Amino acid sequence: MSKVTTLNEFIMDRQADFPGASGELSRILNDIAVASKIVSRDVRKAGLVDHILGSQGETNIQGEEQQKLDVVADNQFIKAFENGGEICGIASEENDDFIAFTSEHAKKAKYVVLFDPLDGSSNIDVNVSIGSIFSIYHRISEPGTLATLEDMLQIGNEQIAAGYVLYGSSTMLVYTTGRGVNGFTLDPSIGEFCLSHANMQMPETGRLYAMNEGNIAICEKGIQEYIAYCQSSENDKGAPYSGRYIGSLVADFHRNLIKGGIYIYPATDSSPEGKLRLLYECNPLALIAEQAGGLATTGRERILNIEPTQLHQRVPFFVGSKNMVEKAISLLQK
Ligand code: AHG
Ligand code: MN
Ligand code: MN
Repeated sequence: MSKVTTLNEFIMDRQADFPGASGELSRILNDIAVASKIVSRDVRKAGLVDHILGSQGETNIQGEEQQKLDVVADNQFIKAFENGGEICGIASEENDDFIAFTSEHAKKAKYVVLFDPLDGSSNIDVNVSIGSIFSIYHRISEPGTLATLEDMLQIGNEQIAAGYVLYGSSTMLVYTTGRGVNGFTLDPSIGEFCLSHANMQMPETGRLYAMNEGNIAICEKGIQEYIAYCQSSENDKGAPYSGRYIGSLVADFHRNLIKGGIYIYPATDSSPEGKLRLLYECNPLALIAEQAGGLATTGRERILNIEPTQLHQRVPFFVGSKNMVEKAISLLQK
């Protein structure tokens, strides 16, 4: 039997790759792993426990306020970062504004995290895969002070680490610190994430495309042409690609990372900026895609080069296998 490498061991081994590293990033990754195990446990109970299902603001039979799983996950990650002591502030999809942690210890911390605590939340109540996404940066403001908006609004290229957790048929954590991408599967019997997908590479091309095609009539001509290309027998494969759309970005991305494919959420007449959020959805997945040999773009600009102006900024998003994204760009720019 080959030796099992736990996430903990892997993180410790990799710390040696960063001379002078004092272990803060390793502790942040560990905090994320612990929080995501708790979220995974709660996700696995969805449908059993009435405080997990149901909408925010309702009260259950005991008079306790019911919480949506997005809020449960949000609180779990915030608690992990606040107690962990390596993070001075966070921004999350579930909070209108960023949060600067106020303890003296947190104010001295050097990092910020931006995250989508629960991605694909429309899939929770129908038992379909969902995920969490995170992005880690060095703060720009002086350590010892409160985190600022400027700390949150950095270009994706500055990410120190990024990753996601997929609550699928198994729970997986996939992350990068800018030196390749590695995936870990949670072994529920020992409660550990174990290295299962070392040095992940996105195939250069594939035959899977993922887009909400309900929007096809309200997006620009280049997108319609690209989808027609995917469906044509005259494309590079000489046969129509397969359409696969889960509606959970993490799950659609993960499938394409392994099998090769493209994910598209374009600008539409009803969402002229696209739907997905730059800071905690597109940037982290763009870094992972590029680290695995793939590409991520708005169709006009590399995602990782965008200067953010707002916390919840949306951008059109094309991500996946290099050749497929390049083909989509060529039709958009025609
Ligand atoms: P979230 O649940 O974090 O709000 O994200 C939902 C996102 C993404 O996961 C998914 O790919 C996309 O919204 C689906 O949108 P449509 O229902 O418009 O296809
Ligand atoms: Mn999301
Ligand atoms: Mn979400």
